[in-house]
Amino acid sequence: MLDEGRNRRRSRMQIDIGQTKSGKTIALPLARANRHGLITGSTGMGKTTSLQRMAEEFSAAGVPVFAADVKGDLSGVAATGDAESPLAARCGALGRQFTASAFPVQFWDLFGHDGLPIRTSVHAMGPELLGRMLRLNETQQGALSVLFKRCEDNADFKLTLDDLRWALDDLMENREDVSKRYGHITAASIATIQRNLLALEVQGGGHLFGEPPFDITDLIRTGPDGRGIINLLAADQLMECPKLYAVFLLWLLTELFRVLPEAGDLDKPKLVFFFDEAHLLFTDAPKELVQQVERLVRLVRSKGVGVYFVTQSPADIPDTVLAQLGSRIQHALRAYTPKDQRMVKAAAQAFRENRGIDVKAEITALAVGEALISVLDETGIPTKVEKVDILPPAGQVGPISAIERRAIMEASALRKKYAYDLPEGEASTVFANRMRRDRGLPEVVKTGDWQPGDFRQFVPSFVPEAPAGPSRLDHLTGVLVSGLIAAGGLTYLTWLVG
Ligand SMILES: Nc1ncnc2c1ncn2[C@@H]1O[C@H](COP(=O)(O)OP(=O)(O)OP(=O)(O)O)[C@@H](O)[C@H]1O
Ligand SMILES: [Mg+2]
Repeated sequence: MLDEGRNRRRSRMQIDIGQTKSGKTIALPLARANRHGLITGSTGMGKTTSLQRMAEEFSAAGVPVFAADVKGDLSGVAATGDAESPLAARCGALGRQFTASAFPVQFWDLFGHDGLPIRTSVHAMGPELLGRMLRLNETQQGALSVLFKRCEDNADFKLTLDDLRWALDDLMENREDVSKRYGHITAASIATIQRNLLALEVQGGGHLFGEPPFDITDLIRTGPDGRGIINLLAADQLMECPKLYAVFLLWLLTELFRVLPEAGDLDKPKLVFFFDEAHLLFTDAPKELVQQVERLVRLVRSKGVGVYFVTQSPADIPDTVLAQLGSRIQHALRAYTPKDQRMVKAAAQAFRENRGIDVKAEITALAVGEALISVLDETGIPTKVEKVDILPPAGQVGPISAIERRAIMEASALRKKYAYDLPEGEASTVFANRMRRDRGLPEVVKTGDWQPGDFRQFVPSFVPEAPAGPSRLDHLTGVLVSGLIAAGGLTYLTWLVG
């Protein structure tokens, strides 16, 4: 019998995914894991469980992982699997010893409830991705780009959706002047952006924008034992706004690409990124967006990032993107309609032929947890398609409890860095000042707020200067005390003279 734990240590240069009926292990070489992949299958057929298995294997090999936890069930990876469960029994049936294990997890949540918040600025998101979030057409997108250009020219950096709204109001007011300088913008375009902005805010989009800024390299961490941290994004609430979800993940990928240096050929990826419910990114996607994703996926590989799309059918992914995905795990597809049958045909054609396997017939007949699989081999060529049982995860399959989750969140090493809020107005000033400092510009003075020195004219000269970075209270107390001393002295003098 194969010991899963020992076997895993021995095979650190590859991750074990499935086993054929004849007992052959199908494994993905870590050096090829940045050549991306695809996990497909109808609902309930085992996609998330396969994702969990892969995430665990990557983590055990020291590779950090990012995955969106769409239904909350992936959180189980943080708890030890049950040795008495049917999954463990299945492991035994495959002639392998089940070794239960819990994995190091960092929870993230845009809304800040079920994990640390991830925040950025409207400025950093940029007009293209923001336009996609706001579901703008080409003309409206043009108006938004002008707004961004104007802000950049005026060194006026926008943090939140509220800041953006002010900028839109200002654009509306000065539309004619702006049109002369930057090209024609219609009032109707601005009005649509304003309307869609409101809709985005209602869906909770505002949570993404604020301070402190998210540092993407915080996704690339290993624990003290050398295992890769599995970053899980709570995505259940986020899924209520599918465009926000899809564009947010795309932004994360864009940031990874922007920030990470060229890595060349690595023995293992720096990060593996699972993009669950990937169809949301591509449904009604304009040509430019598909091209952008195709380019990003192609280039991010050389930064050492492997991207794995998870969706129901390969037909959900545009061909140009599909061509970039080296490894495929195909769970059962239930084909009832002629459209479904076309999907099956397309899925079957995506595999390298194996004479012993009738792929088209198998795809519809696979049981839960079974899959057709082809991975890139050491030389980068897709292996012939094989039918396998996906090896069960070592962590718990299914969600952890709210209490367990809270305990993991409290213990997070990144808590101090991210788990705090600045009042919104203050956050925008802190952000704008940081951006201006970075460009060698003087900081903005926020009007309406107390500034050091504002009360100087009222303070007698014998009162010492407020220390550097005084709090408003300290300074007011100083003023008050000196006032009282002066009034006391005056009364005493009057009394003496009198
Ligand atoms: N490899 C496996 N071995 C044993 N049981 C499995 C395996 N994969 C999945 N299962 C069983 O099937 C159930 C559903 O699997 P899973 O949640 O992974 O499906 P899914 O394809 O992600 O579904 P959905 O599309 O609804 O999210 C699991 O809870 C588990 O009980
Ligand atoms: Mg699932």
